[in-house]
Amino acid sequence: MATPITAMFSTSLQILLFPLYGHLPAYSQWLAKFRAEIDVLHAQRSPALRTRDANRAADPQWYARANMIGYCAYTDRFAGTLDGVRARIPHLSESGVTYLHLLPFLKARAGENDGGFAVTDFEQVEPRLGTIADLEALISDLHASNISICVDLVLNHVADDHAWALQAKAGDAHAQGFFRLFPDRLLPDQFEKTVASVFPETAPGNFTWNKAMQRWVWTTFNPYQWDLNYENPEVFSEMALTMLRLANRGIDIFRLDSTPFLWKALNTTCLNLPQTHQLLQAFRCVLEHAAPATVLKSEAIVPAAQAVVYFGDPARGEKECHLAYHSALMASAWAAIAEQDTSLLRMVAAQTPAHGADNAWVTYVRCHDDIVWSVLRPQIEAQGLDFNVRMKPIADFFAGIGLLSFAQGAPFQSSDPDRVHGSNGMTASLVGFELASPDPRRRYAPDRLQLLYALMFSFGGIPLIYMGDEIAQTNACDPATQALITEDGRWLQRPLWQAGVRADAATLAGVGLRALAQARAANSDLDAFALRTLVPEAIAPCADGLFAFYRGTKTLCVFNFSDHERTLDLAKTAPQVRFKNALTDAIVDSTLMLTPWSFAWLQSTTPIQKK
Ligand code: GLC
Repeated sequence: MATPITAMFSTSLQILLFPLYGHLPAYSQWLAKFRAEIDVLHAQRSPALRTRDANRAADPQWYARANMIGYCAYTDRFAGTLDGVRARIPHLSESGVTYLHLLPFLKARAGENDGGFAVTDFEQVEPRLGTIADLEALISDLHASNISICVDLVLNHVADDHAWALQAKAGDAHAQGFFRLFPDRLLPDQFEKTVASVFPETAPGNFTWNKAMQRWVWTTFNPYQWDLNYENPEVFSEMALTMLRLANRGIDIFRLDSTPFLWKALNTTCLNLPQTHQLLQAFRCVLEHAAPATVLKSEAIVPAAQAVVYFGDPARGEKECHLAYHSALMASAWAAIAEQDTSLLRMVAAQTPAHGADNAWVTYVRCHDDIVWSVLRPQIEAQGLDFNVRMKPIADFFAGIGLLSFAQGAPFQSSDPDRVHGSNGMTASLVGFELASPDPRRRYAPDRLQLLYALMFSFGGIPLIYMGDEIAQTNACDPATQALITEDGRWLQRPLWQAGVRADAATLAGVGLRALAQARAANSDLDAFALRTLVPEAIAPCADGLFAFYRGTKTLCVFNFSDHERTLDLAKTAPQVRFKNALTDAIVDSTLMLTPWSFAWLQSTTPIQKK
């Protein structure tokens, strides 16, 4: 007889899946088979993972505590193989890292594969990187070091040499049902009217002609990444079971790749559709039942008002992803670096929507992709400004254009001079590390790197370090990567870890991410949940490059995004409060002096009366 919990799970799953698939004639048989397969995988969960499930059930916000610091790396670029990553665990622990996001390491398409995001087989590790046994050994060592592991679950597409694609190409009608195929241009042309291109220059349009099938295939990203057809329930069940099999190997966090694209409908942008959210809630429901120690992170690089929807609406009892990237915060912080003005950053912070009690933002400075500027479109258009005109000087700055620019980045998919798409480059290169030492614009490069990380470590969320930023590594410059950059400019920020890093002890000490991690872990005001209140602009003027907020009851965080020394009258901010600097323990006078491109995390001894 079913236990009440199992019965509740079945009901919740039905409620989520019926609106998507209930009209299909074989719905009930499909659901019964899927339920049985979930039960088999649930029963196979190891005793160690069951203990993990129970411990985390007792501490449901485990993934968002003040000591949670993520690190994102490619296996091969960071350490060669999965075994190499194991050998680097001490480096991660010393940097204060408690969760490791390893970019795709499952078997990928031969040849071009979008850095592993074109998966050929979800059940195998990419042979260059190791084996399933190596993965299990790595996970076991990470767990023993209190580091959780996050992997990409590429939900939207598979490689064109995945078994489903091969069978489809061979004419198998069942496999063809896994993809979105069209015999002619009638529907593709209609979709193209409202659907944007992700890579407008290297992979324009959203459809690719396949000669073997004599069909147009939906390919949102590259022509070799075939979008899955989630109108077919088997696609959902196969991907959900894939997720559970990985969870049973000990995966703690799934980064759900390209979440906005899952469902498509005519006359829409095919982004963030309600059915996509419904599907994600169904993935969550399955995971909570069969592998509850595991959490979901949505990769939706969209404005904050849309990103927040990926948490689910707690008022309606919805549970979707636990975590979501705050890419607007990231892009607006870079805008503040270029402009020495924090207006956009302040706007994004002020408009960051509230979220449910068990959700947290992922706050980050850089990642393996470009800085996508369109996430700031709402803030720019709300001021009546043209997006491209407003963003062009910022994108140019990061391409090194202009006398004042200290950045050595490159534009991405933006050869049309009137359009702004993205910017590439490692953090260190974008903040000035590549300039020669006597150049005055180089002087504050370490301060700028630390300033950006200090913001992301204190804003409220789970901070993520991108591989190499902890050692101020600059853009990829080895010949093999140059060839990859020619194909896809994002390889600029995918250097071989440590290759080319200068042995400049002062520089490395200046970066000091470990000190930030330690100070953060010691102060629960800086965790993902404590309340954040912006300090009024009159006290921290944006035009001066100042930005400040209170966290929790006793912490004030102040940032100076400018080349100038700035002062802040703490008496005006929080009268009668005595502060100490959380990193140095120094007592701070009522006038806080900030050197160029610096920050201060101040802790009061008594609760702050906010102004
Ligand atoms: C995500 C990844 C990106 C990849 C895309 C397609 O956005 O971060 O690198 O190109 O998905 O899989």
